[in-house]
Amino acid sequence: MKVQSDVNIGLVGHVDHGKTTLTKALSGIWTDTHSEETKRGISIRLGYADIEFRKCNKCGEPLCYTTAITCEHCGEETEFLRKVSFVDAPGHETLMATMLSGAAIMDGAVLVIAANEYCPQPQTKEHLMALDVIGVTDVIVVQNKIDIVSKERAIESYNEIQEFVKGTCAEGAPIIPVSAQQGANIDILIDAIDKKIKTPIRDPNKPSRMHVARSFDINKPGSHPNDIRGGVIGGTLIQGTLKEGQDIEIRPGIENKRDGRNAWISLQSKIVGLNVGGEDVDEVGPGGLIGVATKLDPSLTKADSLSGSVAGEPGTLPDVLHSFEMETHLLDRVVGTKEERDVAPIKIKEPLMINCGTTTTIGVVTKVKGNVQVTLKLPVCADKGDRVALSRRVGARWRLIGYGIIQ
Ligand code: GTP
Repeated sequence: MKVQSDVNIGLVGHVDHGKTTLTKALSGIWTDTHSEETKRGISIRLGYADIEFRKCNKCGEPLCYTTAITCEHCGEETEFLRKVSFVDAPGHETLMATMLSGAAIMDGAVLVIAANEYCPQPQTKEHLMALDVIGVTDVIVVQNKIDIVSKERAIESYNEIQEFVKGTCAEGAPIIPVSAQQGANIDILIDAIDKKIKTPIRDPNKPSRMHVARSFDINKPGSHPNDIRGGVIGGTLIQGTLKEGQDIEIRPGIENKRDGRNAWISLQSKIVGLNVGGEDVDEVGPGGLIGVATKLDPSLTKADSLSGSVAGEPGTLPDVLHSFEMETHLLDRVVGTKEERDVAPIKIKEPLMINCGTTTTIGVVTKVKGNVQVTLKLPVCADKGDRVALSRRVGARWRLIGYGIIQ
């Protein structure tokens, strides 16, 4: 049985349109794991679930597609097709930075749109723009909550969706009517995802590079000092492999404020364990979400403190940039709000929210003639040619305005 999934699929869309319920319908796993999330009923951090796509060899299409080991229609054992990781991005407008960090590790995406609300809702649009900006092109649209609308509204909503996706990366994408809550049409969705969202071609011989999306201290409070386990980082490898016992470097690392100066020191450690979908493995490759146990002091990794970093073989990671120049590509309109307005040119001294890989930082604009130059509040570990998402403060919120390419 294949332990590691080979593709990361994002679940994106407006708040409450059913992303988390859909993950549950597909996997039986509820991705809202934090108590605050349970209380408030929204996804705050990225949730994820590994899911096996399977097929019954006796039943016809689409009934044959399932995630269950035994076919619910005929009781036969189903055949393994593919393992995929779902990344559940939060839909609330205040959590765009988290959504953008998540989009950096998505190979494809499912855009969830509730049929009982007019399309597009602000974050439906903002999330689709984010996919466009980050360059996620394999997209499937789920028209959810089909159980609570009339046939007429379902058709109207379908037409609204078709109109809305025109000219975007979702133009021509399959639109699958689903009830995540009732588990209706999940088989058709599995088939569509399997066909449309392909595993990217990757070169396993490149030096390893991991985008860190989460980091944890896995020790229980009051653990005996002899039982303390090292820090754990979670994320996805975009290239290369990682093996147990291997040395690892994490950049930018931690900030050292000694002598009044801000210096960033990269962290070096040894990999003492690798975990994929709850199973321990000796080696991991690209695709899917992985957990890497290190010998780092767990206080360095607690509460996602290393999320946004890049990890890989020591000496092979990109430079840590405190400022950079970028070629900018701005959207025509600011999306994500009810009233949309034009995107004004970038101004000198204005602060921009910059999402680079899984890092979120603020860049203050220091030059606008030709390429735009920014000085970063938190440095990033990135290569020339990398794409960054740009957001500007509009009213009380950061709004996506376009992307830049690091020069
Ligand atoms: P955020 O992660 O906070 O952005 O929300 P979400 O998109 O994950 O939405 P969630 O899955 O939490 O669903 C929001 C509400 O819609 C919940 O009360 C669900 O029970 C309900 N819901 C989700 N899918 C369906 C569906 O297919 N039919 C019906 N009737 N209700 C649904």
